[in-house]
Amino acid sequence: MGAIGGEVAEILNCFPLTVFKEKAGLDPAFRKRVGDLILDVHRTGPKAGESRTSAWTGDRNGFERLHERAELAPMFKAFHRCLLAYARTLSINCEKIDFHITRAWGTVTRAGQSIRRHRHNQSHISIVYYPVKTDGTGNLVFHVPDPFNELAPGLFENHARQMGLLTGSDILNSELVNLPVAEDDVVIFPSKTYHGTEPNEAGDVRVSIAVDVLLSLKDSTGVEYLLPPVEQWRKTSGF
Ligand SMILES: [Fe+2]
Repeated sequence: MGAIGGEVAEILNCFPLTVFKEKAGLDPAFRKRVGDLILDVHRTGPKAGESRTSAWTGDRNGFERLHERAELAPMFKAFHRCLLAYARTLSINCEKIDFHITRAWGTVTRAGQSIRRHRHNQSHISIVYYPVKTDGTGNLVFHVPDPFNELAPGLFENHARQMGLLTGSDILNSELVNLPVAEDDVVIFPSKTYHGTEPNEAGDVRVSIAVDVLLSLKDSTGVEYLLPPVEQWRKTSGF
């Protein structure tokens, strides 16, 4: 609420993007085993897409099926708990919807590296988890290419700030939001959201786990939208 000419103006902020963050509650020894698993694959496997400034990501290197590993079940159980809490925040009826992991992979970010801005177009919900993350190794950054409040193109970009065209910087006039993240954090957001990371400016390596999730209906009878139950799918080659 703000005062204008003695009157109190009502400010309505519409159309939020909701990002969920919660501790997984996994013990340090388990988190270290997860980190060591990813670091081992990174050390010995292919390194497509990695450079001096770009992090290594398992999905680019044939390493995207972490959800099939029995030893990682405690981590995926924690993700499921967080996913239900996220869905309930949005009033999604979890009695009527199934959540499917389609892909789960590790990332390794060393000093000077970052993950450039991208989004997961093939997915509905994305989960990020930090088994190994110390201060200075880079936070998660969300980006909106066309903020609703940016009434003139470029007004919310960095050069506009540097030129003094904005007197302050907050959530109402930003195209970027930096989300501080720490070890054992689970972050959940819509997969269509553009995101990336800050550069790792510390000496420590950062290891994260990324998971893509698709929603399907438990019963598609009479429902036009959303994916029908996966059990009803059939390959066109199967006739
Ligand atoms: Fe991503």
